[in-house]
Amino acid sequence: MKYIPSENALTAREQHYNDSSKLLNHLSSQRKFQLDHFLKNNPKAFEIEQKYGKYLLVPLAVPLFEIPDKDHFMTWWEAHAIRPTKQKGDYVASDLGISPFESVDLLQEIGDDWNLNLQTESFKKEFPKLWQQFNDSFPCDKLYSINLWSSVQPFTEHRDSAEMVDFPASFRVKLYDENPEETLFVFDNPSNPYTCEEPTFLPRLPSTNTYVWNNLRTMHGSVYDQKYKKILAVVAGQVNLDRYDELLSRSTAIYKDNCLISKHSLENYVNI
Ligand SMILES: [Fe+2]
Repeated sequence: MKYIPSENALTAREQHYNDSSKLLNHLSSQRKFQLDHFLKNNPKAFEIEQKYGKYLLVPLAVPLFEIPDKDHFMTWWEAHAIRPTKQKGDYVASDLGISPFESVDLLQEIGDDWNLNLQTESFKKEFPKLWQQFNDSFPCDKLYSINLWSSVQPFTEHRDSAEMVDFPASFRVKLYDENPEETLFVFDNPSNPYTCEEPTFLPRLPSTNTYVWNNLRTMHGSVYDQKYKKILAVVAGQVNLDRYDELLSRSTAIYKDNCLISKHSLENYVNI
């Protein structure tokens, strides 16, 4: 698959290039807020940043998510999915209006940029093993959100208004995908100096379909072919630093050939 940035994406790149201080300041303040607020400036959080910040994308060594009965799942999806509308934006994700995806929400304890479509009880009843797997797979004391999204258009390159600490903490599960080639990509995007590296598509692996990427350092997006359906789970949670360290240490060893690693340092993204 090949990603060709749209006119809008190229214009946005040019604006950042001409005045990268806005992006640098935004990333800096978001990182500081999250270290203060969610991680209470725990020294272990800074250790984890030093250890894993350079890992832009890591396949996670957790059991494969498998849909037990695809027809049952897709019938359920068609009956429950909506096309949500974005209610709120911020500097890195400012677009409002109708979404480029259909959604079903399973959990939303924090953040509510899109109008919600919580179908938790129905999902638990129909797919109890998957629900358990969502609760068991992530190195988190508490999950904040689980959103299932299915593209109906390309997703232009962007950062999420989400995890902005310097370690990979944006979790994704490729629950279902008919695309013959990978559609989801990430690329390194330092703000100081502003640079867009070439995109890397997620590796397809037999043993895991769960990934985590660094949303402070990278942008992501997806190409779209209307012939094929894909359902992606977007998962966020309060990271347990010890469990995270153990899982990332294992995952970066097992998938050492499939991780994307940055050539840059933290000061290329934020004011330290
Ligand atoms: Fe995103």
